[in-house]
Amino acid sequence: MNDPKVIVALDVASAEEALALAARLPAQACRLKVGKELFTAAGPSLVGTLVERGHGVFLDLKFHDIPNTTAQACAAAARLGVWMVNVHALGGTRMMSAAREAIEASSHRPKLVAVTVLTSMAVPDLDEIGLAGDPEAAAVRLAGLAQRSGLDGVVCSAREARAMRSRFGAGFALVTPGIRPADAIADDQARIATPASAIRDGSSYLVIGRPITRAADPAAALAAINAEIASATKGQAA
Ligand code: C5P
Repeated sequence: MNDPKVIVALDVASAEEALALAARLPAQACRLKVGKELFTAAGPSLVGTLVERGHGVFLDLKFHDIPNTTAQACAAAARLGVWMVNVHALGGTRMMSAAREAIEASSHRPKLVAVTVLTSMAVPDLDEIGLAGDPEAAAVRLAGLAQRSGLDGVVCSAREARAMRSRFGAGFALVTPGIRPADAIADDQARIATPASAIRDGSSYLVIGRPITRAADPAAALAAINAEIASATKGQAA
């Protein structure tokens, strides 16, 4: 597979656990997401090892700082050789543009996407920080800022994918978590979508953790999800 759609969330606490899990997942069948817990525990050397072993890595550190600091952090991520890195759209267009310019100046250019509104934020949480109104409208507005800043896409809920896709066009990457195969348990995810429905609604990449990482056979769970995605994609082409 040239451009695997599944990004497996390596939500584990140590380099040893992460490498053991990565060893069970074929690099050509998925990408791997390293988030704040694992990165804080295991650092850039783990990321470098995953990249050396041929894995596409999404460094999910959601940078949000002044433009120069964010840009330098993105440049450092590019030097690690990651496939994708992200920032908070709430940092604004000057910050996002600076981040984009920094990775464009790097010899290796990762994809750069923005987090819009964290899906953990409900209406009262948004009100409290002065973001009144409908969270979905705020997410679309922030995604517009990301596109205007030249970013490659956004992280969003699969439930928002259809609206985002029609508004922002085919070339804008939509990275969607909260995915559960029809026969999987929801865990603590409330608003879930199946891999096939997320792809049909316009998702570009699916972030999936526990249905793969906690499976008795993670490679088999991944293969089943990839088969579901392939048939949904074929259905779209037909
Ligand atoms: O195990 P599960 O599939 O629920 O993991 C989903 C991953 O996506 C986790 O790393 C989680 O932090 C992340 N995520 C999410 N919802 C968001 C943004 C990120 O579940 N809105």
